[in-house]
Amino acid sequence: LRILILFGGRSDEHEVSILSATNVMAAIDRAAFDPVPVYVARDGVWRLSDFVDGALSLPVAGAAICPVPGGRGQVVCLDGSALAPVDAIFPVLHGQWGEDGAVPGVAAVAQIPLVGCGILGSANALDKEMAKRLLAGAGLPVARAVTLRADAPVAFEVLAQELGLPFFLKPATQGSSVGVGKVSNAVEYHEVLERGFALDRKMLAEAFVAGREVECAVLEEADGTLIVSRPGEIVPGAGHAFYTYDAKYIDADGADLRVPADLPEAQEAHIRARAAEAFRAVGCDGMARVDFFLLPDGALIVNELNTIPGFTDVSMYAKVMAVSGVPYGEVISRLIAHGIA
Ligand code: DAL
Ligand code: MG
Repeated sequence: LRILILFGGRSDEHEVSILSATNVMAAIDRAAFDPVPVYVARDGVWRLSDFVDGALSLPVAGAAICPVPGGRGQVVCLDGSALAPVDAIFPVLHGQWGEDGAVPGVAAVAQIPLVGCGILGSANALDKEMAKRLLAGAGLPVARAVTLRADAPVAFEVLAQELGLPFFLKPATQGSSVGVGKVSNAVEYHEVLERGFALDRKMLAEAFVAGREVECAVLEEADGTLIVSRPGEIVPGAGHAFYTYDAKYIDADGADLRVPADLPEAQEAHIRARAAEAFRAVGCDGMARVDFFLLPDGALIVNELNTIPGFTDVSMYAKVMAVSGVPYGEVISRLIAHGIA
């Protein structure tokens, strides 16, 4: 089966996507699948990449690929040459215009099976405000938050009163902590807000939660059953106020991953059950990583869902699946099986 692996993309997680896709290319079962890597340059143009000596090429000139020519599985180059039809599109894109349901939409219109989470769950999960509403509606605990829009400012004092200090400011639809800031005073508030509104129309001011960060990978099988991994834990390194972009990807000692997390059996079972509920509540299918905060008193808060979680060397999804009995290559095979079912 020919699987179009889409990576790069227009979001601020472009570099993260390249790392993720490189790992997917290395792990995919070549006996079963013929991966066709397609690079989405920062300007959004799709071009055929290749994978040589463990690295993906990043073409920014030459024939562009038209994703929606109208024929089932067909993808064509705009120089007139046709690619052999593909059997599925696997977006390994993070953030806006990738993880937000846009690519599942393209796949649906082009009548090409999609690997991973569909339109609804992707769009819901990437918007932190909408995800919270759905999670709360399903009775799952979330951190208190106030939605901010550029044209309806809310005074720092009002938020400090409502959320306590410090609080977090997050662009509503970014990933990898891009644009996120921890705010303790009015000066920081306005700085982070201004940066954030350059990235997003909507920001969330969210109460600070002092808890352990635990995450579960969820994978939906072709028959609809869910595999929920054992939880992993992220311990941000010293010198990082929280699990920032730099702590994630730049600083080698930025964070420590504990896989699996050291948790009592009953608590682990509780977390896994909540992960499945969160996955369904947000309308996900295929795959997502569910991120939680675990409070000292044992209470659990759902932080967010990531429908195209990182597949980098320091990312959690594949690692927690591996300790739960599904090795990396097998994760990809099952995701594809779900997509073409
Ligand atoms: N947004 C990044 C890729 C993650 O959640 O892993
Ligand atoms: Mg995220």
